[in-house]
Parts: sequence; C-alpha cells; structure tokens
Amino acid sequence: MSRRAHFATKFGVLMATVGSAVGLGNIWRFPYQAGENGGGAFLLTYALAVLLIGIPAMVAEFIVGRESHLNAVGAFKKIAPKKAWGGIGYLGVFTGFMIDCYYCVVTGWTLYYLFLAASDNLLGLSVDQYSLMFSTYSSSVFPPIFALVSVILITGVIVSLGVQKGIETASKIMMPLLFLLLLALAVNSCLLEDSQTGLEFLFIPNWSEFTIDTILSAIGQAFFSLSLGMACLVTYSSYFTDDVNLIGTASKISVIDMGVAVLAGVIIFPAVFTFGMEPEQGPGLVFKVLPNVFSQMPLGYLWSLLFYALLFLAALTSFISITEVVVAYISEAFKISRVKSVILTGLTFTLLGSVCSLSFGPLSGFTIADKNIFDSLDYLATNILLPLGGILTSIFVGWRLDRKVIEKQLNIKGKKGAAFLKVYIFFLRYIVPASVTCVLVTGLLS
Ligand code: PFF
Repeated sequence: MSRRAHFATKFGVLMATVGSAVGLGNIWRFPYQAGENGGGAFLLTYALAVLLIGIPAMVAEFIVGRESHLNAVGAFKKIAPKKAWGGIGYLGVFTGFMIDCYYCVVTGWTLYYLFLAASDNLLGLSVDQYSLMFSTYSSSVFPPIFALVSVILITGVIVSLGVQKGIETASKIMMPLLFLLLLALAVNSCLLEDSQTGLEFLFIPNWSEFTIDTILSAIGQAFFSLSLGMACLVTYSSYFTDDVNLIGTASKISVIDMGVAVLAGVIIFPAVFTFGMEPEQGPGLVFKVLPNVFSQMPLGYLWSLLFYALLFLAALTSFISITEVVVAYISEAFKISRVKSVILTGLTFTLLGSVCSLSFGPLSGFTIADKNIFDSLDYLATNILLPLGGILTSIFVGWRLDRKVIEKQLNIKGKKGAAFLKVYIFFLRYIVPASVTCVLVTGLLS
C-alpha cells in the first residue's frame, strides 16, 4: 500500500461509494421512469441491466483505480500499455467537470427548498402557485447563485479536509441519516389512504408499455445512477485498501442504490395519488407537485422537512464525488495542494455554475440546438460522454489490460475462479460495450 490517502474502514468505503451513487438520479429520475415505462416491467429490466452491465462496468473501474492508486488520468496512463489510453481519464475529468457545472445548480435548488421547508415557508399554496414560485426562483439571478455557491462552499470544506477526515467522515454521517429519512418517509407514504394506486403505478408490470426503449432507458439509468462512465469510481477506488473485496463492494452498492430508487418511488407515488395529483418528471415533480402534496398531508411540515433534507443529502454526496474526480486530478497532475486545488475548482464551478443557473433566466435566449446551456450540458454529459466513457473503460479492461492485473485485483484462484474470469472478460469485451453503444446511438438520435 502506498503512502497515498486511503479510506480507513470498509464501512467508509461503502458509505462513500453509495453516497456517490445515490443522488438525484435515484430520487427524481428513477421513480418516474419506472412508472412511465411499465412499472414492474421496468424494475425487472433495470435489475437485469444493473446485474449484467452495471456491476461488470463498476468492477472494471474499481480494478483500474485500485491497481494504480492514482487520479482518473494518472490511473489509465500508469497501467495502460500505451499512454493514449490516458485519454479515457481526461474524458472522465472533462465529463465530471461538465456534470459538476449543472449538478451544483440543482443541488442549490434542493438546499433552497430545504431552507423553505425548515423555515415553514413552503406549505399552503396551490400547484399553479408552486409552479410560478419555482420558475420565478430558478430564473432569478442572485438567489439560485447564492444557493449554488453555498453548496460549493460546503463541498469545498469537506473535500479539502481530505479522503478520510473529509469525504469518509461526511459520508459515514450523512448516508445513515439519509437511510433513516428514507425509511421514515416510505412508511408514512404506505400508511396514506390511496397508497395502493401509487404502489400499483410503480410495481405492477405493464408489459404493453415494454419496448426496446424500455431496455435502453434502463441501461442509461443504471449508468447514471451507479456513477459510471466518468472515472468517479476509478478515483474513489484509488483510495481502497487491498483488503476491500471489489466484486462484493460493487454488488452491495448496486443493491443499495436500487433499493433507494425503489423506496423513493414508494415515497413519492402513494403520496402523489392520494392527494389527486399527476406524477411529473424531474424538477416538476419535486419542486412543483410535492410541495402541494405535503401541504395537504397531516404533519406536512415534518414530512416536507424530512423529504428535502433527504434530497439535499443525496445530491450533496454525489456532488462531492464528482468534485473529487476533478480535485484529485488537478492536485496530483499539477502537484499543488488539495486545498489549492479545491479553491481553483470551486472558483471555476462558481463561475460556470452561475452561467448554467442564468440559462433559466437572463441567458435563456442563448441556446444550442434548441436547448439552453444547462440542458445542453446535461444532454452532452449523460447521453453521450458517460456512455462513451463506459464503453472505452470496459474495452480497455476487457481487451488491453494485463489479465494478471485483473486476477490479482479480483483475487481469482483455482478452476472456478478461472471460469468466472472467462465469463467476466466476455462481458467486458462484448456485452457491456455493445449494449452501451446502443444507448449512445439512441442518445445521439434523440
Ligand atoms: N449517481 C448520481 C445520481 O444518481 O444522481 C449522479 C452521478 C454521480 C453521476 C457521480 C456520475 C458520477 F460520477
């Protein structure tokens, strides 16, 4: 083990990686996708996508990270036969940089809504008023920028404290809290009057809505939700010690991540249906529909406070992980201290995050292919760069990386181990790149 920073405990490893995986993708993207794509049919497809594509791809990132104990770029350069493979690392840092620029905007919105809920200024309006309130807020100049700067500052403090004292400690506190909030909210939702309609919307398989698009959405969702394709897990696993079981950790993260996504659906849909609302996707659901739902709910103040705390924690821990990719790269590649790297990245994110935020207001006229700056970055990163990063990483580990490295990292022994390794390599060589290429192509055509 090198003298480089590492996570101190296995619990810390799990909480930090789950903290990265569990984010806005679970709470506002997954439930709606599941409901719209045939409920239980989507759940089943999603579970298969995680098992057959997500876990193999995650283990591949872990192998690269722990073998090299370096940042995203250095990792690929160090263990690749040719330096050009370092390009995957640059792609990862670039993608992380782009996602950070708009993820801080949404995390800022969640912080603002948490503040509204805590100060008892959220409840009591109609859906139309909530709609107006959200669009007025998100298109204004200073309030959302103030929120995103606060998010960047909180993240900056945590990341600059380092891997153990900062990221690991924060994750060990924030993630168990997040699970508690999740459980409390889910139990409350199940006790609501019309919870059954919501649960049916989420769980009953509706095969008539099952198309090839369902499969591709499930794979795309698995990729984003598991934080794959931008070397985030390469960076985190570069802090793993040798006794961390990579396959076991990847399986646990995937199960917990999926559990959280399903529970988020269990929280949202029974409540939405009980109070006669229509489910909507993304910002519309959590910032326009849910405040009205909480307004009608007994003890609405408490539940809204818990929900926005949950949303903020989920977004924050993911934002921390994306930021760490960029911070680790800058500080190691340019040999500057972690604190300096955090300040540099923080200032850049403040500038570019503000531009993204303003793309809902004064800069809304500035569009690329009919999308504002925020949507363009989101589209480019999630539909194109993440799948591309995932394809290249699995090709690299499947085709180019020395088998001995894989054997060592996965602790492969004996006949059974050899057979497992064959199957694993087959997945990395063919199944993962082929299926993710389909997602990429549909993303490009959409
Ligand atoms: N997994 C996060 C979510 O579900 O919101 C988003 C994310 C985090 C994507 C980190 C990519 C990443 F590297």
